Amino acid sequence: MSLEDGDETEMDHGAWLDEKDLTPLERTFLVTLVWLDKRLRLVDYLEMVESLYYRVNMQLPKSHTEQYNLDNKFWYWYPLYALGSFSVLAYVVAAMSGALLGFYYAPSTAGDPSAAYNSITYIMTDLNFGFMLRSLHRWAAQVMTAAVFLHMLRVYFTGAYKEPRELNWLIGIVLLSLTMVFGYTGYLLPWDQLAYWAGQIGVEMSLSIPFAGEWVAQLLFGGFALGDATLKRMYIIHVFLLPFVVTTVIAIHLALVWMQGIAEPH
Ligand code: HEM
Repeated sequence: MSLEDGDETEMDHGAWLDEKDLTPLERTFLVTLVWLDKRLRLVDYLEMVESLYYRVNMQLPKSHTEQYNLDNKFWYWYPLYALGSFSVLAYVVAAMSGALLGFYYAPSTAGDPSAAYNSITYIMTDLNFGFMLRSLHRWAAQVMTAAVFLHMLRVYFTGAYKEPRELNWLIGIVLLSLTMVFGYTGYLLPWDQLAYWAGQIGVEMSLSIPFAGEWVAQLLFGGFALGDATLKRMYIIHVFLLPFVVTTVIAIHLALVWMQGIAEPH
């Protein structure tokens, strides 16, 4: 409710303030506050911020160590609890450097079979700081994969996957899988020998799936032999589909951490 609402609208603030026996500083503060509140509904907004603060700090019931005031061994593990945030950081660096690489990379082998490869050569040799941009992207990707994996080990060995966090563990498995798909699709983009033969392995692994194999190879790789369709699919998955999906799933993962609070070791 605003200071100006209801009966107080007509009230003489000067007289009200005189009654209060205030120092000049307090009086100036209150007069300014009322003046601002009349125009900007400050008190309403402060109340909104206050209720938001309590919502943000709403957590699960107290943990065992808190409840019984036990020695809090939890914090001895602290550095390992940063691995999740470290994964987010690596993801952000990879996303930003990847977006910049997108200005120079050509996802094509149509016409010129070396077009994609040549665009990477251009980035590495001619583009100013191109080698740095590409290295940053590759390092961020590898650091992310390692951090996500170590984060999973931390969660496992501290027992943080147990009730009530089973769902976040499953969401984590999805994130680990998507991180690997990110890595695989990115690995194919330079269209060098490593990429080409890794692609070939992918096609053959797809074909080995019982019944649906041919359909999967067709869908993911655009056929049974590698070509422009393969590269285009990898590119779209890597730069369009996965960034949206992974960002959304990370947001859900973090929202659950926020709602449930961090677990202590079991
Ligand atoms: C892109 C991948 C991932 C990101 C960015 C991420 C991020 C995070 C962050 C920031 C936290 C807060 C606590 C901490 O940092 O340790 C967290 C907690 C958690 N994560 Fe992940 N995570 C990822 C993958 C995974 C994987 C692969 C698993 C397991 C399969 C997993 C399971 C969990 C669980 C169960 C928690 C709650 C832990 C607790 O309450 O102590 N996450 N995650």
